[in-house]
Amino acid sequence: MMFRSVALSAFLAGVAASQSCGTLPATISYSGNAIKLPDPFTFLNGTKVTTEAQWRCRREEISALIQRYELGPMPAAPDVKASFSSNKLTITVTANGKSLTMSPTIKLPSSGTAPFPALIALGGASIPVPANVALITYNNEEIAATDPRGKGKFFDLYGSSSTTGGLVAWAWGASRIMDALEQLGSATTKIDAKRVAVTGCSRNGKGAMVAGAFDERIRLTIPQEGGSGAMGCWRIVGEMKKNGTKTEDAAQIVNGDQWFATEFSKYVNALDKLPHDHHMLAAMIAPRPFLVIENSGIDYLGPISSYGCATAARMVYGALGAPDGVMGFSQNAHGSSHCQLPSAQNGDVAAYFNKFLLGQESVDTKIWKPDSKLSLDIKRYVDWTAPKLV
Ligand SMILES: *[C@@H]1O[C@H](CO)[C@@H](O)[C@H](O)[C@H]1NC(C)=O
Ligand SMILES: *[C@@H]1O[C@H](CO)[C@@H](O)[C@H](O)[C@H]1NC(C)=O
Repeated sequence: MMFRSVALSAFLAGVAASQSCGTLPATISYSGNAIKLPDPFTFLNGTKVTTEAQWRCRREEISALIQRYELGPMPAAPDVKASFSSNKLTITVTANGKSLTMSPTIKLPSSGTAPFPALIALGGASIPVPANVALITYNNEEIAATDPRGKGKFFDLYGSSSTTGGLVAWAWGASRIMDALEQLGSATTKIDAKRVAVTGCSRNGKGAMVAGAFDERIRLTIPQEGGSGAMGCWRIVGEMKKNGTKTEDAAQIVNGDQWFATEFSKYVNALDKLPHDHHMLAAMIAPRPFLVIENSGIDYLGPISSYGCATAARMVYGALGAPDGVMGFSQNAHGSSHCQLPSAQNGDVAAYFNKFLLGQESVDTKIWKPDSKLSLDIKRYVDWTAPKLV
């Protein structure tokens, strides 16, 4: 099946190259709502998005807003030199006259034929990796430490006073792995850079989602139990907290863990001033394949927030012409065994790998499995409609 979003991804990349989208004003005074999620289809200046070309620009605007308000700036693509020998990838990145070296480990499949698809796993994989998919284990904490702020190789290059938070630094590192795979080519690495997925669990699930959002070369994004900071929306989790659930809302997450830009602290108690939420981070991934794995047995992850936010994100997939099954949501109440994928979810993960990395077109990826005990009133959070973009 040649679904429309494959063509659309290529189309959007073409639009990006040929169109100038304008930049954010220096000062923004956004005034929205503390519960209702901002409309992904309305530009900051009030213009409605009705065409795919406009969506391309709105996506750039969303990226700029998320960088300014929450995650911090993503640096321009740096110079990268890569080498590969005896299954070892060495990546030297140079910027500002300084260099760093990354050496992610690669485990090539023992079966199948090269070039292989690959999975980049932040901190290691805690989902089953199919036997014919290569595993690239990426030590993201070495790029940016969770604590203290400004520690790690990213900050050695860009300065310890860089306002970029850890999640963008981790995504930046994943993009350097993509640079290396593209530069060396599959004849050298045995990996097909056009069939790469990214994953991670918990904090690394947040990082994986940001990596998928910021790098359109990544084909498939699978955040696992990322909760708030990944598929959870700040507004919905904020309401959960107000309602008395012990969950990780924005005000709590900025204490201690240096995953966000310092700027975000200004908004964690003023969510109505935030011009985006995480349905719009997911919208940056659209219409590329995306599977959200969540654990509704842990209140701290904000189960109804992830479900509601994913429901809003799915509307963006629909507007971009992606059929059901390009974005999936799998939520299981397996409780405190955080990051230990229960067997009930194995099939969902396998389906996404099989269809989108291994070319098994007939596999059914229509996976929409929120915890059946959760009841979501999506109108409480969404007061916009998704257009059919032309
Ligand atoms: C609003 O911004 C978009 C994107 O920069 C632009 O295409 C559009 O023309 C702007 N609308 C107005 C009314 O300025
Ligand atoms: C919070 O409580 C209100 C009032 O009972 C309810 O309508 C709403 O759905 C709750 N929100 C969440 C996220 O639990």
